[in-house]
Amino acid sequence: MQEIKKDIFWVGKVDWDLRKFHGDEYSTHRGTTYNSYLVKDRKTALIDTVWSPYGDEFVANLEKHVDLKDIDYVIAQHAEVDHSGGLAALMERIPDTPVYCTKNGVKSLKGHFHRDWNFMPVKTGEKLSLGTRELLFIEAPMLHWPDSMFSYLTEENILFSNDAFGQHLATGKLYNDLVDQAELFQECIKYYANILTPFSALVEKKIDEFKSLNVPVDMICTSHGVIWRDDPLQIVSKYLEWSGNYKENQITIVYDTMWNGTKNMAEAIARGIESADDKVVVKLFNISHSDKNDVVTEVFKSKALLVGSPTINRGILSGVAGFMEEIRGLAFKEKKAAAFGTYGWSGESVKMISEGLRSAGFELLDEGIKALWNPDESSLKECEESGRKIADKTK
Ligand code: FEO
Repeated sequence: MQEIKKDIFWVGKVDWDLRKFHGDEYSTHRGTTYNSYLVKDRKTALIDTVWSPYGDEFVANLEKHVDLKDIDYVIAQHAEVDHSGGLAALMERIPDTPVYCTKNGVKSLKGHFHRDWNFMPVKTGEKLSLGTRELLFIEAPMLHWPDSMFSYLTEENILFSNDAFGQHLATGKLYNDLVDQAELFQECIKYYANILTPFSALVEKKIDEFKSLNVPVDMICTSHGVIWRDDPLQIVSKYLEWSGNYKENQITIVYDTMWNGTKNMAEAIARGIESADDKVVVKLFNISHSDKNDVVTEVFKSKALLVGSPTINRGILSGVAGFMEEIRGLAFKEKKAAAFGTYGWSGESVKMISEGLRSAGFELLDEGIKALWNPDESSLKECEESGRKIADKTK
């Protein structure tokens, strides 16, 4: 428990051990935190809890600092179990305490816990008085679940933003100005790229809506990672930048290979791009040897994506197929793309990847490039030439 402002306490859990999140879907190289906050006033409110495995530990820690019966309100901003998990243990002890959440929150919490707690559904603009301060609720549907909401604490000017503006970074330092800035922003952009990309239009709208409330923000207390206290709106500016179909001067090449033929094509295409444009950043990833969430982050930063696979069984390698599914769901916008790959006889891979890229929303730069068997010198020259053309078309 750490006091972050007078009578406002961080009561969460730092999870240094976590390396995979959302099952095995999201890599957390730097662990994470589950942030929960206790606000004491004439009334006491608890905002969010922690992931289920830490529920008992959370409640045991909490009751060292507050009599659980003195908690008047539980605010459940989001039902995903990394924040609501601790409710199961907590509500066993204080079953009648009202749980404030959105209408969709009631559905998701019931869906997860199968309990009929004393739910108090709230809408945007509704307030809950704690005595000298009020909590103002702001629904944030699809940022990133239908039930998500923010809460703003008047007088203290704190925005409790749940997942938004968070990042998977374990730290005992608590605040944004006390951690390594490169690590912090790497985790922020990875979080945005992998989780929030499909909801970018809503991000922009929600930020505009919040700005129109015209309320000061001294702190943004997210549910993962650091509390933004030093220039807290810097992360809001970053979100506005990222939500606008973000791209840097980068081309990312993602491939898989069986006997290095497609790898050699990838490297020849990269040489071609770099020979035609000495400014553009080119990055290559063998998807089967790479962390897919880190690769998605690189795609997020790119103006173009090139995807390669040899043909196997009239299709593509499974590592590339998994990656194609990943980028389909993320629905990137305003990015260009092309396919490449080797083949021995039937040769479907390039067409299949091109179709996948088109239907994922990428603009195709060309019809793709194929090389028969192991690419010889003239095939590699074609790849280099193709790279030069791609550089020109994406300048
Ligand atoms: Fe959507 Fe951190 O859970």
